[in-house]
Amino acid sequence: MWNFLAHNKQVAAMLGLMVVAAVVAIVLTTKGGSSAAENIGLEETEDISPASHVFSTHNLPSNDKFMPSIGNGHIATNIFSDTVYMNGLYNGQAGYSHRARIPAWANIRLNSTLTHAPYSPIYSLDTKEGVFKVRVDRERSVVTQRIYAHRFYTRAIVNQIQVEAKTHYDPNFVYQEIWIPIKLMPGEASKDITFPDPVPEIVDGRTIWGTCGQTKESEDLEQQPLPVDVCAYWTSVPDYLVVPQHGSRVFTFVMTADKNKTIARQELVKVLQEDGENLYQKHVEEWQKLYHQGSIDIEGNLELDKVVKGIWYYFLSSLPSEKSFHPLDRFYGLSPTGLARGGTFEDYEGHNFWDTETWMFPSILLLYPKYANKLLQYRLDTAHVAAKLAKYTGNKGYRFPWESAYTGVEVTQPCCPDVAIFEQHISGCISFAIRQYLATTRDEEWLKHGGCDIVTNIADFWESRAVINYNTGYYDISNVMGPDEDHRNVNNSVFTNVVAGFSLYLAQYVSCLCKAYYMPKDPDHWADIAWSLALPYSEEFDYHPQFSGYERGDKIKQADAVLLGFPLQYAMNVSTRLNDLTYYESMTRENGPAMTWSMHTIGHLQVDDASKADAIFNMSYEGFVREPFKVWSELRRPDSGAVNFFTGMGGFLQTIVFGYAGVSIHLDKLQINKPRLPPHATKFTIRGIKYLGANLTLEITANYTKLSVTSLDDNWRLVLNDGKYNITLAPGITVLLPGSGPFTVYSEPWKDCKLPADIIGQNYLRPINT
Ligand SMILES: *[C@@H]1O[C@H](CO)[C@@H](O)[C@H](O)[C@H]1NC(C)=O
Ligand SMILES: *[C@@H]1O[C@H](CO)[C@@H](O)[C@H](O)[C@H]1NC(C)=O
Ligand SMILES: *[C@@H]1O[C@H](CO)[C@@H](O)[C@H](O)[C@H]1NC(C)=O
Ligand SMILES: *[C@@H]1O[C@H](CO)[C@@H](O)[C@H](O)[C@H]1NC(C)=O
Ligand SMILES: *[C@@H]1O[C@H](CO)[C@@H](O)[C@H](O)[C@H]1NC(C)=O
Repeated sequence: MWNFLAHNKQVAAMLGLMVVAAVVAIVLTTKGGSSAAENIGLEETEDISPASHVFSTHNLPSNDKFMPSIGNGHIATNIFSDTVYMNGLYNGQAGYSHRARIPAWANIRLNSTLTHAPYSPIYSLDTKEGVFKVRVDRERSVVTQRIYAHRFYTRAIVNQIQVEAKTHYDPNFVYQEIWIPIKLMPGEASKDITFPDPVPEIVDGRTIWGTCGQTKESEDLEQQPLPVDVCAYWTSVPDYLVVPQHGSRVFTFVMTADKNKTIARQELVKVLQEDGENLYQKHVEEWQKLYHQGSIDIEGNLELDKVVKGIWYYFLSSLPSEKSFHPLDRFYGLSPTGLARGGTFEDYEGHNFWDTETWMFPSILLLYPKYANKLLQYRLDTAHVAAKLAKYTGNKGYRFPWESAYTGVEVTQPCCPDVAIFEQHISGCISFAIRQYLATTRDEEWLKHGGCDIVTNIADFWESRAVINYNTGYYDISNVMGPDEDHRNVNNSVFTNVVAGFSLYLAQYVSCLCKAYYMPKDPDHWADIAWSLALPYSEEFDYHPQFSGYERGDKIKQADAVLLGFPLQYAMNVSTRLNDLTYYESMTRENGPAMTWSMHTIGHLQVDDASKADAIFNMSYEGFVREPFKVWSELRRPDSGAVNFFTGMGGFLQTIVFGYAGVSIHLDKLQINKPRLPPHATKFTIRGIKYLGANLTLEITANYTKLSVTSLDDNWRLVLNDGKYNITLAPGITVLLPGSGPFTVYSEPWKDCKLPADIIGQNYLRPINT
């Protein structure tokens, strides 16, 4: 993905100035030992909570963009912002398509949080309960506000304000009610949606407001503008909450939004009928179910544990609920800044990029395969548009656009047409995500319902892009751009060719898996092309030049050729891997995104250089994670780039799961190699690894590594090879893993299908076997 700042110097300079201003204005609350921040004179507010899943502070970040968000995959908002976003709701033509702003009729402020004196509110994000809390301790009362996007009533954002009179208040005082001033702050009218004036009605004795509008512009220029309906309902908000002198009361305010008017209104009415505490409990229970399915715990390093908890919270907030009052709408994918953001260029407009499949997908797949399925479903749903794009550019099969949103057409931002033209690797990245999905789920239903089709059509696209070069004897893929966007229009990008080769091989394999119900033409032909795709390699330096003609010494933007080792797991000699790592480490620009260092960390862990890995690991999150709410920025302090940067989080999480825990996914096995503790940790647990329907827990300490089996799928018998013995896994058992592995969990082969060779770069004119 590209970085807007890098392409627009003027805006970059402007933002730079704003950041400087923010630095001056910032409230300085020093945090012991945050050295990186001190170095550049920027302090953030402190997270004072000792609990790993709660982030608390007295001082909100001075820059609103580092405020946390709440969401449930259907609806989301940044706390105290004037904007609510909804899954699949965009406005603007083509590259201007961005998440459409719904005024935040859920943004209710306690006046005591708007003015400084005389109270000192505590603000907390509770990632376990999926709620943002404000607590104000006043003279005569304690006021607690809970703000959450309901996980069951998914159209609703709920505000509950409890006012509790203090009991020991001066008894001589004349009887007086407690009055708490509050304010609804939805912001200005939306520029994206024409909402007529809201209409009031009385429901069960409460005044509610409702309005239904339409988005203004369609992103698909070829079609008639297709406005999208959106309806919002909300409860009237008074100027004061009034409670008797000795009383306690909970006031519930709700906003709902949906494309369907009936649903938005019914859901509001239903939520209002619920008892306040039940309403909250129903929400918390859904979050508990999510964490019950999987979690990562890092004991001994609270900072790291908090970062990890934060990432899962933000990811899950942008993913749809599993159970909801009304059936869910189609899911339109994760985007580099999640569902709570995406209204501006800077935060990538809520579009989908390769970021989803390459950076966020793998860890989500391992713990939440159902969500991995949802992410792939977005690609299946837009595949017919990818077919049109391929046709339009003179190719075959499916060519997925670099950026897509509501319709699936190319919506790359107008600044940067090159990425749309050249970064074709996205189709290969989607195929690679599918490979991982099939490897861990063997989901035959998925293959039947679009899976075979998408895999083979992506292969067809690459087949039409690969051209035999009779001078070299290799197939070339010309005029592309790899992840390193500083080099555009290159030939044989090594990353692109490897994902293309893997896509071709996967199609061959999947054709065999699907043969009972799907008939591709010539699967072996795909494999032949893959076998002879050019693979730039320098014998002199024993490393992979990024593309044909890459000049050594040329700086690059971000990890590119090193991605061959991981995530692609392309087989190569250790010496080559090491050279790729060391060389590109020194060639990556200073201001690149965090994922580069996540991938270098994994590389060093794989080649067994833990101290180097630990040092680089540091660079993959320090300076990117903003206190106190663990919101990520795309660029290091004091720049920022996109915020809340899910892509960087995804890279970091992979370092934890596939780096330190040493897990790797293969078509025929799940492997655990050299499991290690992350820096300063004493115990590291990944609970809820899903492999072929089994539910596994990996526990790592300095003294031992254990694999426990919670449950197994009857369809797949699992065997663990611990390097010496084969152990048949059974529910309830725990196996100690001796040494550093590799430990392999495997089952019988999936059908009678030969695994792909997954080797490329073999000369077509001079087959090595003859
Ligand atoms: C509460 O704050 C709002 C916005 O600042 C203000 O308009 C209103 O007058 C305040 N109410 C009270 C009682 O102070
Ligand atoms: C809106 O939802 C209601 C209730 O589920 C349903 O009966 C109706 O068909 C929906 N309307 C549209 C336009 O989808
Ligand atoms: C890339 O390939 C194209 C098409 O084969 C060719 O015209 C062009 O000269 C090549 N560019 C480089 C730098 O080799
Ligand atoms: C990998 O190492 C082996 C043994 O040293 C060598 O024969 C082979 O050529 C190497 N492969 C590459 C791609 O350098
Ligand atoms: C990151 O590295 C720096 C310098 O090596 C070190 O001072 C700092 O403590 C490290 N941070 C963490 C969280 O390990």
